[in-house]
Amino acid sequence: MCGSPLFVIYDLVGVREDLTNGEFPSDMNSMWRYSQLLPVKSPSCVISLGEGWTPLILSRRLGKHLGLQMLRIKDEAQNPTTSFKDRGLSAAISRHYELGAKEFALPSAGNAAVSASAYAAAAGLKAHIFMPDDTPEPFFHQCELYGAVTTRVKGTITEAGKVMSDQNGDWTDLSTTKEPYRVEGKKTLGFEICEQMGWSVPDAIICPTGGGTAIIGIWKAFDELEAIGLIGPERPRMYAAQSGGCAPIVRAIEKGSDDIEPWVNGETEALGLRVPNPFAGRLILNSIRHSGGSAVAVADQEIEPTRRTASKLEGIDFCPESAVGICGLWNLIESGKIDYDEDVVLLNTGSGARYTNL
Ligand SMILES: Cc1ncc(COP(=O)(O)O)c(C=O)c1O
Repeated sequence: MCGSPLFVIYDLVGVREDLTNGEFPSDMNSMWRYSQLLPVKSPSCVISLGEGWTPLILSRRLGKHLGLQMLRIKDEAQNPTTSFKDRGLSAAISRHYELGAKEFALPSAGNAAVSASAYAAAAGLKAHIFMPDDTPEPFFHQCELYGAVTTRVKGTITEAGKVMSDQNGDWTDLSTTKEPYRVEGKKTLGFEICEQMGWSVPDAIICPTGGGTAIIGIWKAFDELEAIGLIGPERPRMYAAQSGGCAPIVRAIEKGSDDIEPWVNGETEALGLRVPNPFAGRLILNSIRHSGGSAVAVADQEIEPTRRTASKLEGIDFCPESAVGICGLWNLIESGKIDYDEDVVLLNTGSGARYTNL
C-alpha cells in the first residue's frame, strides 16, 4: 500500500468515440446513465437502487434571501437512502462485487453506513459498520434493518476506523478514499450538474466537506467531460464548507499548507463533517486551489437555525451539513467572494430526518 488514494483512469478517447451523437443515453434516470465512465464492466454486477439523477432545483426563495439572483440546489436527499453517499456506495459495492468481495466494512458518521448497509443487502452480501457511539439511533436502526453488523465506538470516525482496522476482518475496506470506487460514484454529481445545465458549468459550487469524496469526485468529473468534448476548459470555483468545530481543511487553506494537520477534539452537530483527519487531504486542497475557490468555516450554533430557516423557505429537507453549506455561502457573499449575479450550485447532501434521537 502506498498510503495515498488510488484514482481510476479510463480510455477517454474510446469513450468519446462510443457516445451516440456525442451524448450519454438519456433514457436512464440514475447515475448509471454514465456507465462508460463508471468502473463496473459487467452490467449484471451493477447494484442499483435508482441512485443519482436527482433534481437541480432552481431556488425560489432561499437564493433571494441570501441576495443571489441564481441559486440552484442539487437535492441529494432524493437518493434511495436519502443522501449523496448512495452514489459512491452503489459504484464501490458494484465494482467490489464484480471483483468477488463477500463482506464489506467501513467507519462512518452515519449516512455512508446506511448506504453501505442498503447496497450490501441488495447484493446479498454482509456489511460491518463502525460508528461513533453518539451517532443518533435512527442511523443504527436503519443499518440493522438492512442486516448490517454494527459496532459503537467512543470517539469520532477516526477512532471508529482504528477499531475497525484492529479487528482486521476478512472484508473489503470501504473507508472514504481508501479504495478508489466511491469517488467514481460521487463524480456523477459533477456530470449531472453539467448535463442539467445544458453541458455548461456554474460559477461556483458549495460543498459541505468532511472526507472530501464529493469535492474530489466533482473536480475529476470536469476533466473527464472536457476530455470527451462535452464541456470546455471552464471550471466552477469549488468552495468547501466546514463547521468551525472541526475545520481542518479551512485551516490548511488559510495557512497555505500542502497537507492537512489533524484537528484535535473535533466536535460539530453536522456529523458528516466531523472528520478530523481526511485521508485524501492533498487531493482536496488541490481541487479547491486549482478551481480558484476556497474553504469557509461557520459557527456551530448557526447550523440548526439556518437549517430551519432554509427548509421553511424552500420546502426542501436540508441536513445539518447542508446548513453549514448555506451559512458558508452567506459568508462568501458577505465577504465579496461570491457576487450576487453569479450562478451558484449548493449541494443538499442529504435529508435531516435521521439526525434526532427519537
Ligand atoms: C450529509 C453529509 N454531507 C456531507 C458529508 C461529507 O462528505 P464528503 O466525504 O464528500 O466530504 C457527509 C459525510 O458523512 C454527509 O453525511
